[in-house]
Amino acid sequence: MSLIGKRVLLIIGGGIAAYKALELIREIAKRGGAVRCILTRAGAEFVTPLSVGSLSGEKVFTDLFSLTDEAEMGHIELSRSADIVVVAPATADLMAKMAHGLANDLASTSLLATDKQVLVAPAMNVRMWQHAATQRNLATLQQDGVTVIGPNDGVMACGEYGPGRMAEPSVIADAIETTLGSGSQPLHGRHILVTSGPTHEPIDPVRYIANRSSGKQGHAIAVAAARAGAQVTLVSGPVAIPDPVGVTTVHVETAAEMLAAVERSLPADIAVFCAAVADWRVEAQSVDKLKKTETGPPALALTPNPDILSTIAHRTTDRPALVIGFAAETTHVLDYARSKLDSKGCDLIIANDVGGDSGVMGGDLNTVHLVSKTGVDSWPRLSKAEVAERLVADFAVRLDAGSRK
Ligand code: PMT
Repeated sequence: MSLIGKRVLLIIGGGIAAYKALELIREIAKRGGAVRCILTRAGAEFVTPLSVGSLSGEKVFTDLFSLTDEAEMGHIELSRSADIVVVAPATADLMAKMAHGLANDLASTSLLATDKQVLVAPAMNVRMWQHAATQRNLATLQQDGVTVIGPNDGVMACGEYGPGRMAEPSVIADAIETTLGSGSQPLHGRHILVTSGPTHEPIDPVRYIANRSSGKQGHAIAVAAARAGAQVTLVSGPVAIPDPVGVTTVHVETAAEMLAAVERSLPADIAVFCAAVADWRVEAQSVDKLKKTETGPPALALTPNPDILSTIAHRTTDRPALVIGFAAETTHVLDYARSKLDSKGCDLIIANDVGGDSGVMGGDLNTVHLVSKTGVDSWPRLSKAEVAERLVADFAVRLDAGSRK
């Protein structure tokens, strides 16, 4: 009940994700908050004022030029009586209006008139999201101090795949809590370093060695740590997902670049090595594209990459108080995880089974086992966002316990 006494003005834009706004109202209410809603004309094509009003328990505002509404509560008052303004779903149109300061309906007028923090949860077709105009508007909104949550990757209602799905209502509610400062901030004042995604090890100018890591788990940990109040540096290999908001993201390609970026980012209180770093690289990268020859395929001599986790865990200066590795295994998951805990010198290993049909690499769900010197804690299958939230809560407790020793 961490939103007790808080008032949220929820602006529901027009999109298929509007149905999730109903769930968001419930989620805010469950946490003790009160929700007053503005339903845009397009939003009302997807959810009805009746359902929004029934769930929020308040009058639903729809029309800027309604004498009754203005008599009951003027739009200026409506935008200021809340503690926070949330736009979910935020359509491309609403974001464009906000970025340009347009005010031609109740939603855009209230957004321009508010003196409160605004949080938007975009939802739109992937091409609309990726369009240069939307990305320009997004950058403007971020510069204006608007907090942007999501969008997530996934299959769109239109059948296309990519970023554009609205963030889950529980994640938006978490962001509301954090923004209002009513959530607990167990990592406030701490610096957390996270690696994420694969590395690409070039063979020649057009080919490389890689793996199937999407960066979803590592990025989710960075987001959860930021939400827990930490200053977060995310060192990411090449991924197709957007940089998290509120996190400093450093982009790298190879293991050597990742190690250099990690070392530059120290000191840190906690370092979490979630990246799927290539164990080997090609000994001699070809300057020119390798050609097919009559003598058959070229032999690629491989050489080991630096082990980033082990290097940082064995540092004598600036070793983070908590060094956490992952173990991606396809057999004997716990045995290999225990041996990595020893050989890499880290404080905790998060083991996950990445076998062919687990769908963990690249997927949205994960089943993890926390392997430490004191034992194993196995968690059920959860969304990667939930795994991240729980892991960050666990790391905060471990860090706190360590500093009290
Ligand atoms: O990115 P997603 O699609 O969301 O998938 C998430 C994940 C499966 C990639 C993630 O949960 C995970 O398991 N990450 C670790 C992947 C890995 O490389 O595991 P490993 O068992 O090979 O390596 C053990 C540890 O050493 C890892 O912390 C790894 O980051 C680190 N390592 C490995 C090799 C190397 N040269 N340097 C390293 O730092």
